[in-house]
Amino acid sequence: MGQSKHGVLEDPERVAVIRSYEDADFDMLAEIRRDPLMNAMLLTVVERTDDAAVREWIERRQTEPGGLFRIVADRHTGTGVGFIQIGQVHRKNGVGYGGLAVTPRFHGHGYGRAAITALVRLGRDELGLRKLMAEIRSDNIASIELHLAAGYRAIGVFSQHFLDATGSAHDVLLVEQLL
Ligand SMILES: CC(C)(COP(=O)(O)OP(=O)(O)OC[C@H]1O[C@@H](n2cnc3c(N)ncnc32)[C@H](O)[C@@H]1OP(=O)(O)O)[C@@H](O)C(=O)NCCC(=O)NCCS
Repeated sequence: MGQSKHGVLEDPERVAVIRSYEDADFDMLAEIRRDPLMNAMLLTVVERTDDAAVREWIERRQTEPGGLFRIVADRHTGTGVGFIQIGQVHRKNGVGYGGLAVTPRFHGHGYGRAAITALVRLGRDELGLRKLMAEIRSDNIASIELHLAAGYRAIGVFSQHFLDATGSAHDVLLVEQLL
């Protein structure tokens, strides 16, 4: 099996396992939730980042109707490194929005690729969706490259679509993949 330029085996799920949330993942998720740059890339403006607010966010993610929320963990150590989620699911149409994040200190090790591979597989096989979509900031090159490499196609750009925490407007690319 070949190596990518990050030295990761090309079977992406060899580097990570996808599992349910455990209490030990709280600090990692809080780290993501408290990181302004991550929020800016996840198209979210977080008002409260105290422990209770992070717990409420995890609870909301886990109970999203028709959706899915899982932890991306290192296959060898079991350490949580990020999450995948599917939300805004339209059951009748069989479509939903996928999202993912890897905490910055674990970037560049192939976890993102493992995460998106799992996201597509779970969207299709576990939720029975026909299509996944994603909205990505136009300047989020890492995520755009990752989605295109995973089989998504670009639909178009929403102009000045996302207002970040400082009030700056950002273009947002819409991508989709039929599963
Ligand atoms: C996008 C993100 C999940 C990538 O995670 P990662 O673990 O660093 O990604 P990987 O190491 O698996 O890299 C997979 C691919 O992503 C792309 N990529 C990752 N980092 C990149 C970068 N800095 N520049 C360009 N492409 C990049 C490449 O296509 C790469 O494949 P390659 O290694 O064959 O070149 C991570 O940067 C992240 O969490 N970003 C903030 C949150 C976010 O943007 N989520 C998506 C919202 S739509």
